[in-house]
Amino acid sequence: MPYNVSFTVNGAPVTTTVEADESLAWVLRERLGLLGTKIGCGTGDCGACTVLLDGDPVCSCLLLAVKAQGREVLTIEGLGAPDRLHPLQQAFIEHGALQCGFCGPGMLLSAAALLARTPRPDEQAVREAIAGNLCRCTGYAKIVDAILAASRTVAGRAGLR
Ligand code: FES
Ligand code: FES
Repeated sequence: MPYNVSFTVNGAPVTTTVEADESLAWVLRERLGLLGTKIGCGTGDCGACTVLLDGDPVCSCLLLAVKAQGREVLTIEGLGAPDRLHPLQQAFIEHGALQCGFCGPGMLLSAAALLARTPRPDEQAVREAIAGNLCRCTGYAKIVDAILAASRTVAGRAGLR
């Protein structure tokens, strides 16, 4: 039986019809055309589908879309814009932190959630924050360097340097 679900995506209100068993990841991609959210394993193991739900990272492949009712969803399309990159996106480019890029959206959103609550994390905190985001390409060193560099930018803007 289809349900109407209303929530915000990247700050804009949306209402869409979903089936009871459809995941948020599938609805974002297939019903709303937001292809930045990737689906890798579909079982909660890889983190490619990570989005922020009311500011917290979640595996959107495991979350039924009906559970997004009334919530705020942030996908990679809402993190920055081509002419206004988020400091994390800028740092990932500058540090060569992406290769195939499949893990990128989820990795960036997990990192964004970390910096929102801990503007100056240490390396251990960064590694813990992205522990659920698997990358088969980069070996993580450049990703961690990029997140730490972005944290210096974010903290500097907040006057926390
Ligand atoms: S696709 Fe959701 S965790 Fe892998
Ligand atoms: S850049 Fe390819 S999986 Fe991370």
